[in-house]
Amino acid sequence: MNGYLNESNFMMVEEGFSTRDLLENILVELCQASDQQAFFVADLGDIVKKHLRFLKALPRVKPYFPVKCNGSEGVIRLLAELGAGFACTNKAEISRVQNIGVPADKIFYSSPCKQVAHIKYAASRGVRLMAFDNEVELSKVARSHPHARMLLGIAADSSPSAHPSMMFGTTLESCRHLLEAAKEQAVEVVGVSFHLGSSGLEPQAFAQSLATAQLAFEMGTELGYQMHLLDIGGGFPGTEDTQARFEEIAAGINAALDLYFPDGCGVEIVARPGRYYVTSAFTFAASVTAMAEVPVDQPGPDSVWDGGTGSCLSPAEPSPSSPTEEDSGSKKNLVYHLSDGIYGAFSRLLFDSPCPRPQLHKRPSPDHPWHSSSLRGPPGHTEDGIAEGLELPELQVGDWLIFEDMGAYSITTSSLLGDRPQPQITYAMSRLAWKTIQLFQSKPPQSDDDRESVCAPLSCGWEMAESLCVTPVFAPTGII
Ligand SMILES: Cc1ncc(COP(=O)(O)O)c(C=O)c1O
Repeated sequence: MNGYLNESNFMMVEEGFSTRDLLENILVELCQASDQQAFFVADLGDIVKKHLRFLKALPRVKPYFPVKCNGSEGVIRLLAELGAGFACTNKAEISRVQNIGVPADKIFYSSPCKQVAHIKYAASRGVRLMAFDNEVELSKVARSHPHARMLLGIAADSSPSAHPSMMFGTTLESCRHLLEAAKEQAVEVVGVSFHLGSSGLEPQAFAQSLATAQLAFEMGTELGYQMHLLDIGGGFPGTEDTQARFEEIAAGINAALDLYFPDGCGVEIVARPGRYYVTSAFTFAASVTAMAEVPVDQPGPDSVWDGGTGSCLSPAEPSPSSPTEEDSGSKKNLVYHLSDGIYGAFSRLLFDSPCPRPQLHKRPSPDHPWHSSSLRGPPGHTEDGIAEGLELPELQVGDWLIFEDMGAYSITTSSLLGDRPQPQITYAMSRLAWKTIQLFQSKPPQSDDDRESVCAPLSCGWEMAESLCVTPVFAPTGII
């Protein structure tokens, strides 16, 4: 962990700090001094808590974090330190995690569609675990990576995915044929993989997919494969406002695992939780860079473009304490351009969940009227809509808006528009979270007595302490 301490963008904070306090400091110091117009604050302690929760709720499942969800250095370093594996979709992601020191056997090249050059790169870097779901992919791997260990991707029987074009997996009917084709090409198949999508996991769908996976395991075993690895994908909720809580979903998964892959059956279980780990840890601040008033009787941007995000565009409830436009008699439609948009921190709006409701940095004056407001990215891209129909007090250029729950699919390794600077990330961690990581890295307690003594120092008041009794699922990597 010492690597963190040397970083200028890492802050050790006392327990009880709030991300909001930190953000206020940064707004004063960093932005005035360096002309920053957008930045993230990340609470790494939140990710530590999520990790412990994961291990406690799904004790048989090893997490492989999908790098595409958040490839920021602080997140990768922390999760590596906690012993997680990584799911990578291309050469750049493999290179990123390996440069941080993640060993090849903790990397799963999970993309079902791979470029030959990237397969060869994985082979040269010792990354063996991969997935396939059709013959073309199989032949590419057979030719370019003789030592690959493959997971057969099966289609998940789930409600429609948020982005169906990205659906992955073959049907049960095609499994035998693909397994035979793998045999003919001397490709080693070691298990099965599926991903149920990220729009509300249903325990029923999990049970269905596990039943299908079990049949695919039987086929593989009949063909002489040593089937010992099952990947149950991602899609676990990243916030607490979802229909089912993470622990409820986990209970359903555990029950289905007990049925189809009982403890002791010799099958190792992995998952690829992305948004679960990082969503709530990151807060984003963006500034208003330009604004315009749209005449009330002129069709607003919302009638031209809906951004494909549905609920992002639904008008927010007016603040009960604020005067409505009718009360004030000054109805306005205002459009604000922010310092970042869908080609940067808000890129997930293109395929995923709606824009989080912004908070105002400056407390609005009670006698200011509220207006129907749209948020857009930097001028020049008409499609760059972030949110429509929000009720907000009138803002000024230079005002800041704060967006919580911004950790998933918001950190692009390079701006999609090339010319925009990447928002800086300031990482924070409480001293207690820091100590917890160190404790977590030390040798797991061997007996119940040891276990108690490990938990004791932290038992005064921090809910994470109890979870610390969970034995780490991986050996610590000790690379930071
Ligand atoms: C194939 C696959 N696996 C895992 C994930 C991670 O999903 P989440 O961030 O919802 O956990 C995704 C996200 O798009 C995915 O497409």
